[in-house]
Amino acid sequence: MVYPIFSGSPMIQLYNVSKSYQKENSALKDISVQIGKGEFVYVTGASGAGKTTFLRLLYSAERATRGQILIDGQNISRISRLKIPYLRRKIGVVFQDYKLLNSRTVYENVAFALEAQGKKRYEVSKKVYKALKEVGLEHRLQRTPLELSGGEQQRIAIARALVVDPLILLADEPSGNLDQEVALEIMELFRQANARGTTVLLATHDHSLYHRFPRRVLTLEQGRLVKDHQPETL
Ligand SMILES: Nc1ncnc2c1ncn2[C@@H]1O[C@H](COP(=O)(O)OP(=O)(O)OP(=O)(O)O)[C@@H](O)[C@H]1O
Ligand SMILES: [Mg+2]
Repeated sequence: MVYPIFSGSPMIQLYNVSKSYQKENSALKDISVQIGKGEFVYVTGASGAGKTTFLRLLYSAERATRGQILIDGQNISRISRLKIPYLRRKIGVVFQDYKLLNSRTVYENVAFALEAQGKKRYEVSKKVYKALKEVGLEHRLQRTPLELSGGEQQRIAIARALVVDPLILLADEPSGNLDQEVALEIMELFRQANARGTTVLLATHDHSLYHRFPRRVLTLEQGRLVKDHQPETL
């Protein structure tokens, strides 16, 4: 039995959401859950449990086969392709493998989303500098990603996700390729973003992160939400 743990106004709402990539087996099965504005939530579960699929549905990289998904009150279940870019302005995404453009500078990587929104040049540079400062890499502006360490590349990817002031930050195994010490630095950046009001969802296998920073945990098992656990200390 999964008990809804939620208070305050919702940022993410799922109602009976299922996702099947192929007819016979579904990656997510009948998920109903609400996540409040400003929450920090871990999404955990074994490999293949559906963590990545769960996040991909939220930024409309995949479409739910059944059920309804609301982001910030907007039903995205049948969102048109034309509207997806507007949805994505609300959502920053961080991946395990950074997904930076290696032929571009750090500055260009972080500036890209703002430029795509047509922001003025001085505004872009002000925001990029601020985002890079928040991750402690403002002195790396003119480098290219491959000149940086893995931890630095991930911090750039986090700056890129946060530069647009997203309502939601989705991170899929963001420290999966990094050692423990760097993983904790990355966690600290998510914690700070959350403290500034961003709703954070972090998919991870790494239970040590939870022990360092206990927050609500959604556990998936073979596509089902089997546990919704709030730490007692909160
Ligand atoms: N593009 C796809 N096409 C077909 N099946 C897929 C696709 N993506 C995921 N699946 C299947 O959906 C299920 C859930 O996969 P998902 O990637 O969401 O799991 P995960 O919990 O993120 O796993 P991991 O910890 O290994 O990253 C798995 O059975 C997987 O094989
Ligand atoms: Mg995954």
